[in-house]
Amino acid sequence: MIIRVLCVFVLSVTWCTALNLPSSFKKCDLRASDFDQCLSNAIQDAIQHLKEPLLEYGLPQLEPFQTPKEVILEYGNETTGIRQKYSNLKITGFTKIEKTSARFSLERKSLNVNITFTNILYESDYGARGRFIYLPIDVSTTTAINLKRPTLRIVFNLEEYEKENLKYFKARGGSFRMKMKNATFDFKNIFKKGCLNKELNDMMNEKWENILDYFQETFPELWISVFEWMFNNLLEKVPVSELFDGL
Ligand SMILES: *[C@@H]1O[C@H](CO)[C@@H](O)[C@H](O)[C@H]1NC(C)=O
Ligand SMILES: *[C@@H]1O[C@H](CO)[C@@H](O)[C@H](O)[C@H]1NC(C)=O
Ligand SMILES: *[C@@H]1O[C@H](CO)[C@@H](O)[C@H](O)[C@H]1NC(C)=O
Repeated sequence: MIIRVLCVFVLSVTWCTALNLPSSFKKCDLRASDFDQCLSNAIQDAIQHLKEPLLEYGLPQLEPFQTPKEVILEYGNETTGIRQKYSNLKITGFTKIEKTSARFSLERKSLNVNITFTNILYESDYGARGRFIYLPIDVSTTTAINLKRPTLRIVFNLEEYEKENLKYFKARGGSFRMKMKNATFDFKNIFKKGCLNKELNDMMNEKWENILDYFQETFPELWISVFEWMFNNLLEKVPVSELFDGL
């Protein structure tokens, strides 16, 4: 199975001067015994503050999050597979977080984060070519996908580097997984003559757990690329010494 996520974001302006953490972000003390709890709250707070963008830090508005460019997902091969193009993608719900749990290790330079969102809704223009349940698909339409209580688990590996005598981190999404309570799909007019469209959506909604494998691979990849990109925009501007107290 081949899945590729191509996200092209607008390049952020490169700043040469180091910045402090945004004033709305909580700073945690590495020496404190409740550091991980503090960090969990700080991350959740920071994401929830992004209802408004922080342009100075290259952080976009997250509610809704709109990708400036298209996302292409390729799944399978020519015989059994589908190439999907999501454009004008709008994601609602990234700032409605039920629970965040984070663990940071300075020695291992890793950050584990689990985030449970209340509800995530994707809406987009949608183009697809390929084969799906043995039927040929060649469409241009709109879709809505609703995920109930999805939990995203990410492990970021952090690399340290120096810039103007200050240490900075760069994050790479090492591994990730996603679980969710339920998912509903509304793909409009996938089949040209209008027949089967209701059946397709009914089938997807009834059997959502069966197709979850597919979505569990594609959605997290997209989210990782979004969160990794945002996290790195911040890390590029805020040196390690400014991220935490007690270093
Ligand atoms: C395409 O993928 C299907 C399912 O994974 C597999 O059975 C088939 O052999 C593949 N075909 C080619 C040409 O690779
Ligand atoms: C995230 O969830 C997994 C599975 O429940 C757990 O093993 C891991 O310790 C959690 N990570 C954090 C940072 O809470
Ligand atoms: C998922 O949500 C749909 C629509 O709200 C509902 O019909 C279905 O029963 C739900 N499935 C589960 C397993 O909760």
